[in-house]
Amino acid sequence: MFIDNFMPSIDEADLKDGTMKMVNVSGKDILLARIGNEVFGVSNICPCRGCDLSKGKLEGYIVSCPCHDWKFDVRTGVYLKTNKKVLTIYRCKIENGKIHIEIF
Ligand code: FES
Repeated sequence: MFIDNFMPSIDEADLKDGTMKMVNVSGKDILLARIGNEVFGVSNICPCRGCDLSKGKLEGYIVSCPCHDWKFDVRTGVYLKTNKKVLTIYRCKIENGKIHIEIF
């Protein structure tokens, strides 16, 4: 039998389109960003100096860090300036009214 690693987190209704929120699942701080009916998950700590990305700004698929304005694509974890993946990405899905996050 196949068992996946998706864990339930917050209710879908608690994350509106165009907003983001930090959740803690299995001891990991994960930034969830919702765009339309898709939810993207990335590590919440900015690799620059460790600021809380959930306190930043979301514009389209791009989250800006509140501290020094580094910008990341929530779909890929890529830092736009260098085009390198620097954030851990977590696959998310919406099921039975909840957002589920793949934990590894
Ligand atoms: S801590 Fe995020 S840009 Fe510096």
